[in-house]
Amino acid sequence: MQAAQQHLWWQEGVIYQIYPRSFQDSNQDGVGDLPGIIQRLDYLKWLGVDAIWISPIFESPMADFGYDISNYTGIHPLFGTMADFDQLLQEAHARGLRVLLDLVPNHTSDQHPWFLESRSSRDNPKRDWYIWKDPLPDGSPPNNWLAMFGGTAWEWDEATQQYYYHGFLKEQPDLNWRNPEVQAAMLDVMRFWFDKGIDGFRIDVIYHMIKDANFRNNPANPDYTPNQATYNQLLPVYSTDQPEVHEIVQMMRQVANEYEDRVLIGEIYLPISKLVTYYGVDNSGVHLPFNFQLLTLPWEALQVASAIDEYEGALPQDGWPNWVLGNHDQPRIISRVGAAQARVAALLLLTLRGTPTIYYGEEIGMRDVPIPFEEVQDPQGLNMPDKNLSRDPARTPMQWDTSENAGFTTAKPWLRLGRSFHRENVLVQQEDEYSMLTLYRRLLQLRKQEPALAIGSYTPIYSDTQIVSYLRQAEGHDSFFILLNLSHRPCYFKARNMSIRGTVEAATLPELEGMEVNDTLNLAGDEGVIIRLKR
Ligand code: GLC
Repeated sequence: MQAAQQHLWWQEGVIYQIYPRSFQDSNQDGVGDLPGIIQRLDYLKWLGVDAIWISPIFESPMADFGYDISNYTGIHPLFGTMADFDQLLQEAHARGLRVLLDLVPNHTSDQHPWFLESRSSRDNPKRDWYIWKDPLPDGSPPNNWLAMFGGTAWEWDEATQQYYYHGFLKEQPDLNWRNPEVQAAMLDVMRFWFDKGIDGFRIDVIYHMIKDANFRNNPANPDYTPNQATYNQLLPVYSTDQPEVHEIVQMMRQVANEYEDRVLIGEIYLPISKLVTYYGVDNSGVHLPFNFQLLTLPWEALQVASAIDEYEGALPQDGWPNWVLGNHDQPRIISRVGAAQARVAALLLLTLRGTPTIYYGEEIGMRDVPIPFEEVQDPQGLNMPDKNLSRDPARTPMQWDTSENAGFTTAKPWLRLGRSFHRENVLVQQEDEYSMLTLYRRLLQLRKQEPALAIGSYTPIYSDTQIVSYLRQAEGHDSFFILLNLSHRPCYFKARNMSIRGTVEAATLPELEGMEVNDTLNLAGDEGVIIRLKR
């Protein structure tokens, strides 16, 4: 059994992702902002999360809603001023909430002064800050690499007669991370924010930062299906996850290590065996390579159970796990698994071993909102209109109350609200013991009170086509047995080779709380329980 030794805040804590355009508008322009977030800090404290990660708030032409940055150390006026940011940081810290920002090191905006210089001439000192290549003899792009948001990843520059590489939009040219000047400049960006006192970074597409030195063609993907983004036609063997990237990750970690208690979280969509390499040799990489299994795997008990075990088994020594159900790039959990299973998912997220990240609105069961084509904002949706890939549905305004636009704004919101916001909002759910919000808050409180749940060991107990179950234990503290029914049909559990005796402490439905358990347990479809075991 793992002793309840000293753990770091980001190991014990729960992170909450804020998509700032959609959290709270304070100046009634239809877009959320920093003063809006400040107004809602008390809510976050009440909810029981420990840290907020705010998606990019920096100066940007907004081609990709802030993931195209034109000044890494300036706040976009839409979101407020640096004074607003300083106040946010101070007020969050005063409430014991940590603040993480989004670092986007792989690419800048094409309007960033670095790129404007780089493209100005072939002999500009910043030419080599980006990835410029000659055309092939027939004038075509240097290789077959594709951009995530559709089409070739190479953009022709008429003035200087070369192509530049962009893994995302053409407005997002990739930096050349093999250039030491680029490395130094971005590490200084990190220091700028760390010096201000932020607690960490979520690092955008960290696994994209280094490309194959020889720019070899990517191979075809034999499993491609036409409903997928065109990007998936090829396997990104040479354009992502290159061995040398770990040297860059290490440099970033060393900067974080110059400060106390900071955390780096890497955005990485890779299979487990590759994902865990981003912890780095001897813990020299990011603290938390984001583990996206719960948002990519089919919602089936055996698949989920085996993914948990595979992940637990693959973690390096001292590698701390983490779990996520949703983010600003993916469909919301409730729209993937349904309202009833979303409650089971909440139990899973908040009782697995490792740091959970909650996506804003998940705690009130916000669902993907259908956005009519004329209103689509997301470039991924606009560029591939026939594939239902827009990320807008998961980015709609937070639903606070029953007033117009759910209390998000009195102006026209930048994205329309969900039709059900009159029922699915914070105000209504705070009063309802059956609500998703009450469930999330209950689970967050329990996790805070119980070391076994926050930092204890994880032992898988039994799984089948319906059930996922496991034990959480910390020496000197109560142990918990978690039994989840990932199906809609009743399931019947019987303890084997061990005894499961105790009381249901929290569950998908309040009715289950207080139930005594004596080695057998029947759950209805979509039910899950957390049992405090008798000592
Ligand atoms: C990451 C972000 C996504 C963005 C992309 C390009 O995947 O999460 O929102 O569009 O990087 O920066």
